[in-house]
Amino acid sequence: MLGPQIIKLPKVSDPRGNLTYIQSGGPVPFGVRRVYYLYDVPGGESRGGHAHLSLEQFIIAVSGSFDVVLDRGAGKKIFPLRRADQGLYVPPMYWRELQNFSSGAVCLVLASEPYDESDYYRDYSSYLDAVASRES
Ligand code: TYD
Repeated sequence: MLGPQIIKLPKVSDPRGNLTYIQSGGPVPFGVRRVYYLYDVPGGESRGGHAHLSLEQFIIAVSGSFDVVLDRGAGKKIFPLRRADQGLYVPPMYWRELQNFSSGAVCLVLASEPYDESDYYRDYSSYLDAVASRES
């Protein structure tokens, strides 16, 4: 199974401004069935604070910057995102926090499934129990 990783996106450089595209068969390692974005995040706020049972996501700082902190119960890893020509692949079953948003940051999220609340772990200790039971 593919682990969390930064994946570069195609970038068409142009003196008129750069262009990045995402299409099927491209570097995003799943079929995209939903797109959402976070914006107007007040200074000091964080988002996330949950894990997903089966959802895969690809997170891009299309404007500004923020940090994605991933955790699978054995330590946290911080992925600073500050470029529009790359994104972070987040596999299922990773607890994520999004924090340290710059002013005006826009966080674009590509997701493998439509929204489904039953796919969420929102309680950290239940999430850790689920990780432990999968690994035993
Ligand atoms: P949530 O996933 O908890 O946000 P974040 O991870 O960015 O902190 O979602 C916040 C609220 O928005 C929650 O009530 C569900 C709703 N929501 C949708 O209706 N559709 C969506 O695609 C998403 C991502 C959230």
